[in-house]
Amino acid sequence: MSSLPSLNADAFAADPARLADALRAHGACWIADWPSRSLHDGLRDDLRRLQSRGELAPAAVGRADGRARRGDIRADRTCWLDDPRCGAPARHFLAHLADVRAMLNRTLFLGLRSVEAHYAAYPAGGGYARHRDRFRDSDARVVSWVSYLNADWADDDGGALRLWREDGAPVDLPPIGGSVCFLSELEHEVLPARRERLSIAGWMRRD
Ligand code: OGA
Ligand code: MN
Repeated sequence: MSSLPSLNADAFAADPARLADALRAHGACWIADWPSRSLHDGLRDDLRRLQSRGELAPAAVGRADGRARRGDIRADRTCWLDDPRCGAPARHFLAHLADVRAMLNRTLFLGLRSVEAHYAAYPAGGGYARHRDRFRDSDARVVSWVSYLNADWADDDGGALRLWREDGAPVDLPPIGGSVCFLSELEHEVLPARRERLSIAGWMRRD
């Protein structure tokens, strides 16, 4: 199994453009220990609160007329972070992603116009089949971002994000301890986990 370039949160804070360098060179980058412990815990608590109130909805695949709920393709339940039911950590997270978007526009001239992100809870045994985040009929999603909100994850808990790099080699990322940023044209899948798996998936879009 191959690996990804990786930055830690301090290096990312000191020089965010290093993320752009990694995307340009490799199409993907792992950012260790981002978000910070306090934001991570705030997001996790916010997601748990929404979940306990039944505010998460089964995710759909496709868009417009082709939109459908397909538990065989993806098993997660989600809530968009710009929903007023979400708490302050969701707004902070979106503000960070907006900064990353601005940085990527300055460095890579991607013309990204907006950011969207949702909380996602995958039940034990549920995954997301191999896919691209760019829809067949729309290339609006350009950059994908996933932050993991799990604690105490063991190797045999499963639930890795399997990402096919530009050179076609797969990388498995356990869903803990940071975030991954990758070009939305790259194929990836969520392997089933033995436990519930919590994350935020986000996209930077050209409109
Ligand atoms: C997605 C996705 C990956 C993950 O929501 O489109 O690919 O690791 N999520 O949660
Ligand atoms: Mn995806």
